[in-house]
Amino acid sequence: MLSRRLFIAAAPLVVIGAPGILRAQSVFRTFPFALGIASGDPSQDGFVIWTRLAPDPLELHGGMAMTPMDVEWEVASDDRFATIVAKGTTVARPEVAHSVHVEVAGLQANRPYWYRFTAGGERSFSGRARTLPAAGAAMDKLKFGVVGCQNYEDGFFGAYNHLAREELDFVFHYGDYIYEWRGSPSSASYFTGRLQVPVRQHAGQLLYDLADYRQRYAQYKTDTDLQRAHAAHSFYPTFDDHEIDNNWVAGISGSGSPAEMFELRRAAALQAWYEHMPVRRANMPRFGTGTFHRTARFGNLAEIQLLDTRSYRSDQACDDGFKPLCEGVHDKTAQVLGAEQEAWLAKNLSSNQARWNCLGQQIMMMSLDRRRAANEDTRIANMDSWAAYEVPRQRMLGRMAGLGNVIVLTGDEHQNFVGDLVHRDKVVGTEIVSTSISSGGDGSDLRYGSEQMMKNNPELKFLNDQRGYVVCEVTPDAWLSHFQVVDQVSTRSNTMKRRATAEVAHGIPGAKMTGLSV
Ligand SMILES: [Fe+2]
Repeated sequence: MLSRRLFIAAAPLVVIGAPGILRAQSVFRTFPFALGIASGDPSQDGFVIWTRLAPDPLELHGGMAMTPMDVEWEVASDDRFATIVAKGTTVARPEVAHSVHVEVAGLQANRPYWYRFTAGGERSFSGRARTLPAAGAAMDKLKFGVVGCQNYEDGFFGAYNHLAREELDFVFHYGDYIYEWRGSPSSASYFTGRLQVPVRQHAGQLLYDLADYRQRYAQYKTDTDLQRAHAAHSFYPTFDDHEIDNNWVAGISGSGSPAEMFELRRAAALQAWYEHMPVRRANMPRFGTGTFHRTARFGNLAEIQLLDTRSYRSDQACDDGFKPLCEGVHDKTAQVLGAEQEAWLAKNLSSNQARWNCLGQQIMMMSLDRRRAANEDTRIANMDSWAAYEVPRQRMLGRMAGLGNVIVLTGDEHQNFVGDLVHRDKVVGTEIVSTSISSGGDGSDLRYGSEQMMKNNPELKFLNDQRGYVVCEVTPDAWLSHFQVVDQVSTRSNTMKRRATAEVAHGIPGAKMTGLSV
């Protein structure tokens, strides 16, 4: 039975010609594609196309009746849909919040396609997706975006509007797609204790159950700048901590829930993550967990290992936080990736023929001294980073040594960093830390203590505290990472500029910065 609400069609009916003509027969009161559309996890012959029917995004079940509904999809070789190259009908099921994940295959390599959905007499707007080059194909250029950390309360997602206009092969999302915090019209600032007023407010309380997480994704996905970015580019989504719980690892909550309780929360959060991301069935969680690490291959030019640095990690040393180093930092049994993922990564790194090796991951790999003032006498480390897992960190750096072509892409920090990855006094790779889309608010070029951090950490080449994203431009000879920053996120529109570029020459680990003048 379909609910009455579903059958209250808008009146008067307006026929405005294709593609809007379908609205004349709509069973929906409001636009059912209010969360947008997305494409993701491209391969050489296809990609995933995604949508979720949610005519009332913040309502329970997105305003849908709890019954399956057919969704038609089309993929065209042109943006006017004159030549349809693939189409079909799938079912949006209530078990997965009426989301659909169509794995389109059989397409040509390395070219753009356009896709759209139709359901209940309504048609979605169209999106653009791009297949990858054929395996091993000789490629001379790759250009992709690196994004993440998009706290809705901290600011608008205007950076995404700029990202949507970039010419990119794909986008890597390093996580913190949502934040689990409750909504509040005001709060006490974490840093100053003073009154803090969010730029815009989360709906709902702290997230615990499936309905909570679904509503939060729905709220984020109504952001039209985010929708534009998804409609323009295929994403490779990964997750970090805030998709579930601040600083969680494996079965351990970062906020004190008992293990068996946290397991329920994690299962709900991972289900909601799957429901809202354009990922493959292989990454659908089962029985509360799943496999999320995977590889993106771009011809013979680059191979990106998309890592999961949360699901298999051992507990943070020194009881987490920013602390002086304790004994636990040198724990020989500590894990960041877990044995299985680490073996998978080691095999991929040593066996692939790609010109560049890249790790797409979440937490900082450099072991930085975090002291912000000259008079602090004890070194401080971030326990929720590789710095607190020295044994697996050194193992990882050892694997990079000799390859001469490793770039590590990282998120989480809400600041831009460039630095050398050093193993036994030798530079073995470069870490590019991409700032946040909005988390942390407007920011400024440097924050309190930035200069001290540069002084304390000779491996650091660049530090910046503005919002935005990174664009990587890769050729056989050089890997460029451009730091694109916006002037503010407290307003819907903003001005973007290229703050600096990090350049790594192939075979010579270590970045050189260009364009550094403010
Ligand atoms: Fe974040």
